[in-house]
Amino acid sequence: MSTPDPALPRIDLSALRRMKAAGRKFAMLTAYDYPTAAAAQAAGVHSLLIGDSLGTVLLGHPNTRSVPLSLMLTLGEAVRRAAPNVYFVGDMPYEAVTGGEESVLTAAERFRDEAGCDAVKLETGPADDRRVARLTQAGIDTIAHLGLRPQQIATPNGYRAQARDAASIAVLVADARKMVDAGAAMLLLEAVPNEASQAVLAAVSVPVVGCGAGRACDGHVLVTYDMLGIGARHPPRFVPVLAHLEQVMVDVMRRYVADIAAGVYPGPEHVYPMRAPVKSGPP
Ligand code: KIV
Repeated sequence: MSTPDPALPRIDLSALRRMKAAGRKFAMLTAYDYPTAAAAQAAGVHSLLIGDSLGTVLLGHPNTRSVPLSLMLTLGEAVRRAAPNVYFVGDMPYEAVTGGEESVLTAAERFRDEAGCDAVKLETGPADDRRVARLTQAGIDTIAHLGLRPQQIATPNGYRAQARDAASIAVLVADARKMVDAGAAMLLLEAVPNEASQAVLAAVSVPVVGCGAGRACDGHVLVTYDMLGIGARHPPRFVPVLAHLEQVMVDVMRRYVADIAAGVYPGPEHVYPMRAPVKSGPP
């Protein structure tokens, strides 16, 4: 396990709680690899999520259901090596969720012990409070993910904003209370209007992270590749596309192809020289 950098603040749950209390918003991003995680820590991102969105974003699957826990642990270890100071969250994959109570607990312990996670995030329906309680009793910080739950969606065009009327906001608030009463350390709300997250924030005291959940949340999370302009053709409405790195990659790779074709690459500076011959003198 990598050692935290003493020059940087180490972010733990109490640091995020203090930020909430002080009205300071925190930034969370997904990370699935070492260089992205290192860049995020260097940029002052407070929290990283090894999200099961890697199933669609990295692996090109139509949904997030087929991500193996073993892959998330391997990539999670790399993220933690790169970013030892952030509050690091492991996303409970569908494989573990569908395996029953023991498999969820075992996966959470492996996220903690093998990947160095501080918390796990679990997509939660109304009946999942027992799961949250079990993880909490085992000493694992648990983030209950409410609102849009991608593991319930099989096709890329199935994503819809949730809790857009008073009745469904009331259901969301009841679910949020249930998860917090069961011990959830934080909540994550995905794809809900500001009114919905405001109602949840008024009902609970734990930090609430929004993923497309309006301005009221205590912190915000994005899929990093969406923000960087890599991959998604039609990123969701809430994503600020702050760069177009996929176009940069295409341009650079085109240049490489052209340089090889033109004989510009490899140039003399890219070629290893021979060793100078060793002169042998008279015996
Ligand atoms: O898997 C993921 O990346 C997520 C975030 C989008 C919240 O769950």
